[in-house]
Amino acid sequence: MAKTNDSIFSPQNYTKTLAPIDEAHPLPLNVYTSPEWYEREIETIFLKTWLVATREEEIPNPGDYVRLDVIGEPLIILRDREGVVRAVSAACRHRGSELVQGKGNCKKLVCPYHAWTYSLTGELLAAPSMADAKGFDKSQHNLPTVRAETWAGFVFINFDPAAKPLLDSLGGLPDRFRQYRMEDMKVTKKWENRFNANWKIWVENSREGYHVRTVHRGTLNAYYPGAKVEKFSSEGVPGVYEVNTSDNENGLYVPRNKTLPFIDGLSDDDQECTHFLIFYPHLLLNLPPDRITFHQYFPEGPEWTRIVTWCCFPQSTIDREDFEKEAEDKYYPPMELFIEEDKGICELVQRGIVGRLARPGRFSPSEEKTVHEFAAYVLDHVIGSPSEDPLSGQESVGQSAAE
Ligand code: FES
Ligand SMILES: [Fe+2]
Repeated sequence: MAKTNDSIFSPQNYTKTLAPIDEAHPLPLNVYTSPEWYEREIETIFLKTWLVATREEEIPNPGDYVRLDVIGEPLIILRDREGVVRAVSAACRHRGSELVQGKGNCKKLVCPYHAWTYSLTGELLAAPSMADAKGFDKSQHNLPTVRAETWAGFVFINFDPAAKPLLDSLGGLPDRFRQYRMEDMKVTKKWENRFNANWKIWVENSREGYHVRTVHRGTLNAYYPGAKVEKFSSEGVPGVYEVNTSDNENGLYVPRNKTLPFIDGLSDDDQECTHFLIFYPHLLLNLPPDRITFHQYFPEGPEWTRIVTWCCFPQSTIDREDFEKEAEDKYYPPMELFIEEDKGICELVQRGIVGRLARPGRFSPSEEKTVHEFAAYVLDHVIGSPSEDPLSGQESVGQSAAE
């Protein structure tokens, strides 16, 4: 079976993936390695939907900024003088120099190269020695902007000027998780990792609890003795968000010897549970009853993914005298190990699937419902709805049929 790309976008290659879960096959493996497929994902998913850029508390004051690369685009996320969160290109409109690095505070964006100067809304204010440039019009050289909107303390950006407003795109999420008051939380720790694996492998791994009893066995035994590791239950609006829920007895997110308080006002059910949520495609948010943790993943080519993991606690918890010590002793170490374990297994998958003999197998209907739904989400964006294709439903002739 040659892994050629000539038919990679043909819907009939994916009918087996889109079958009901008890008959469905995982995605054909070339979608995890093909540059052509990857480019189409960037175009149809990442350039069209709301992506998490940062948290509001990273830029609390007017003039605060952070420099981020999002799917290869150098951006500055900042708070302007009126307190509005904005995203502007970090490339100077003269000869392209990166305008700022890292994070900081400024009144204006001044290019380090020849001092072209921009307002915090991206307007070109000054361009030295340009008086004799014929027809040069400053107003034609403002920094391009990207939409930026906020929810629950998260700053999202969207490259698509025609996209629905963020709040209209979130489905039932704001209502469902309002009581966690995420807007009042503050980031206390961040980790950055680069994985040699396709971004979808990371998302798929995050969607199921099937791997917990094996991949995380060491962590479970060390940090959560007696954990039962039951199946996750799932709910949500496919293609908007999914929630996997496990009870705390599963032991994944609330330390056994917990000392930090739960969030005030949670329902009895939410106090018993950790919710693992994806808001497609870019926010992987975990909600135990005492804090939030979340992952941003930045695809960097078909076989690399950069992941930034954040941990945020309520301000009232951070204010406790014992907070730092407790967090360092009990809350951060298991997270660090989970990330290591998940990184390791994702890279093993990538190393396996590149082989000529590799083939997709089958889904476990009881364990991988949300992985199956994620595959449908990707296919819906990259190749469109199969019902629009007159060939859909016919016998597959592509890679997935050649097993
Ligand atoms: S590149 Fe920015 S001023 Fe020249
Ligand atoms: Fe995991």
